Amino acid sequence: MNLKSKLPSVGTTIFTVMSKLAADVGAINLSQGFPDFDCDPALVDAVTRHMREGRNQYAPMQGVPALRQAIADKFAALYGAPYDPETEVTVTSGGTEAIFDAVAAVVHPGDEVIVFEPCYDSYVPAIEVSGGTAIVVSLRYPDYAVPWAEVRAAVTPRTRMIMLNSPHNPAAVILGADDIAELTRLVEGTGITILSDEVYEHIIFDGARHESMARSEALRARSFIVGSFGKTYHVTGWKVGYVVAPAALTTEFRKVHQFVTFSTNTPIQHALAEFLSEKRGYPELSAFYQRKRDLFLTLLAGSRWKPLPSRGTYFQLLDYSAITNERDMDFALRLTKEHGVASIPTSAFLYRQPPPPVLRFCFAKRDETLEVAADRIRRL
Ligand SMILES: Cc1ncc(COP(=O)(O)O)c(C=O)c1O
Repeated sequence: MNLKSKLPSVGTTIFTVMSKLAADVGAINLSQGFPDFDCDPALVDAVTRHMREGRNQYAPMQGVPALRQAIADKFAALYGAPYDPETEVTVTSGGTEAIFDAVAAVVHPGDEVIVFEPCYDSYVPAIEVSGGTAIVVSLRYPDYAVPWAEVRAAVTPRTRMIMLNSPHNPAAVILGADDIAELTRLVEGTGITILSDEVYEHIIFDGARHESMARSEALRARSFIVGSFGKTYHVTGWKVGYVVAPAALTTEFRKVHQFVTFSTNTPIQHALAEFLSEKRGYPELSAFYQRKRDLFLTLLAGSRWKPLPSRGTYFQLLDYSAITNERDMDFALRLTKEHGVASIPTSAFLYRQPPPPVLRFCFAKRDETLEVAADRIRRL
């Protein structure tokens, strides 16, 4: 059969490639973004209890009411944003599903979507499956700041959406108040929607404030805001996330969501509703990960690895230009095979610009894991 691929340039994701290689050669896996420690046992107990109590059938399409209420309450408390849990909050099977559904809900063939490289690898395929065109604007090493003049130049009458991510994977930068002001001016008077990927909203360092789109009435009126409980509760394998958006956007979003997954795992939603409504876990998450970031940096201090500032997420970019002039992919493979530490080359997140000499390391790991990993690479 002569099948014409809708995603001809997509192969196996770099995360799968590096995690498999790490397993094959017995390397420490600092590549894929997941903790090597367990979640709060009380969360597992809560899921088990809900299963035993028989909450094992389809959840409502839009999500369990108690969880939607807890999400709305969190947005009101943290960002002063009044989302209606009935019409403006939807629970999804991970942030990835939320991103895909939001793009599919509003992007028509021929539409343009502005994305910033480096970017999470699901963005561009989601746009292309919907027949849209990704207009890539480069965030450049080493500061990865948003070049607003270039963004303005990239806007056309066909621009349907701008996709943003803060705290940012893989660059670990965050949007500031100036960025929000620029964005507000840029979209004012246009029909451009915003997809704001805020899955790392609770992992932000050095006392910085998370600039959620929800804080601004003008921006939240046109935004899908995506969250993920995988990041917040150390349960990336459970794949539960959400999207908040104004009712008109949510109506279109749910039309897609109900035919992609229909609904999300029921007992887990009930357990997360308990944790979230009791404000468990997320208030102390930034301090928890900041300590791990600082430990990792202390362990590498004095080495030829040069850290770039990590202002949020659980990723650290390390500049290796003082060690080798290899391309990032080649060096990442060699580092895994010869030195037993797997990382992610940032070229995996790039579309236009040549890869800079940096690798992404995930520090969502036990202290012992970080100690052994740092010991293996610090003398390079
Ligand atoms: C920037 C970003 N967005 C979205 C996701 C997907 O989240 P989930 O695992 O909930 O699908 C990830 C996961 O790594 C991510 O890093």
